[in-house]
Amino acid sequence: MGDAVDTTSANGRTLGSQPDIVGKPPVLTVEDFSKSFGARSAVENVSFSLMEHEFVAVLGPSGAGKTTLFRCITGSAKSDAGRIRFGGTEIERLTPRELRQIAVVFQQFNLVRRLTALDNVLAGRLGYLPTWRGVFRRFERADKLRAFECLERVGMLDHALQRADTLSGGQQQRVAIARALAQEPRLIVADEPVASLDPSSAAGVMQLLKDIARDEGVAVICSLHQVGYARTFTDRVIGLARGRVVVDAPTQSLDEAAYDALYGSADLRSNTATTGHSGMPDHHSTVEKDRRAALRLGDPDPVLVSDGV
Ligand SMILES: Nc1ncnc2c1ncn2[C@@H]1O[C@H](COP(=O)(O)OP(=O)(O)O)[C@@H](O)[C@H]1O
Ligand SMILES: [Mg+2]
Repeated sequence: MGDAVDTTSANGRTLGSQPDIVGKPPVLTVEDFSKSFGARSAVENVSFSLMEHEFVAVLGPSGAGKTTLFRCITGSAKSDAGRIRFGGTEIERLTPRELRQIAVVFQQFNLVRRLTALDNVLAGRLGYLPTWRGVFRRFERADKLRAFECLERVGMLDHALQRADTLSGGQQQRVAIARALAQEPRLIVADEPVASLDPSSAAGVMQLLKDIARDEGVAVICSLHQVGYARTFTDRVIGLARGRVVVDAPTQSLDEAAYDALYGSADLRSNTATTGHSGMPDHHSTVEKDRRAALRLGDPDPVLVSDGV
């Protein structure tokens, strides 16, 4: 896969409905990427690319390799084989300034609890200051304006001067997203960003990430446990099972068989008694039904979706 991708993404899907991405190279390209820990392979031969405006869910059971993949994309871990390129440049060769265009959102928000929402967002600007000003945390008026804009973007302007540890989980995640926006990212990597939130807050955060991808031209890649959130909010699903891509398709095209391929593999590994003669899970087994029920629990209630935090 080269840089010559125009209106099609890695999975051959046409993205021509968004005219401003026509002719543009992918924001991120992952090619034959693998990573092991000792003898244990965590991610194997993964390839995909992301265009700006795309909101992609990475689905997969625990241990599938989502975090490992994300850590390599953000440059905090090294791959063993393959290439990850951001804007055409290999991750290892990015300058610190280029690397800041990849913003990370975490499950546990990772805010400085005793600082205000505003100061947490300003931390996203730190990398843009000369070292001496960063040390003394002397932000320009422009940085502060930008931080306020980011808080406004995520619906948290009214809480700008509130300490982070007095905010709800959903509000903290919004501040964390504002901090990510303050980095002026081209790519947001969100590792289970809604796993610690109640369904209403989670839906609000998913809607926000979707809006950011659409409005700001940022590519957003987001790992999730809940199929329901992927279905409601994302454009495309990449399914990982045991470190391999088993699904890469537009969300709307996914049917039950696709989810079977994804979660069935985990069942095969963890409980062979639940599998039918075909090697796929037996849909009538109690365990399988329970698993499906658990997945559906993540489905956002459409009434709550518009509520925000
Ligand atoms: N630092 C590490 N050292 C050893 N093994 C690891 C490390 N990080 C992840 N793994 C292993 O790699 C596999 C994928 O883990 P991870 O990427 O955390 O999956 P996920 O985020 O999908 O739950 C698992 O088998 C896990 O035990
Ligand atoms: Mg993980």
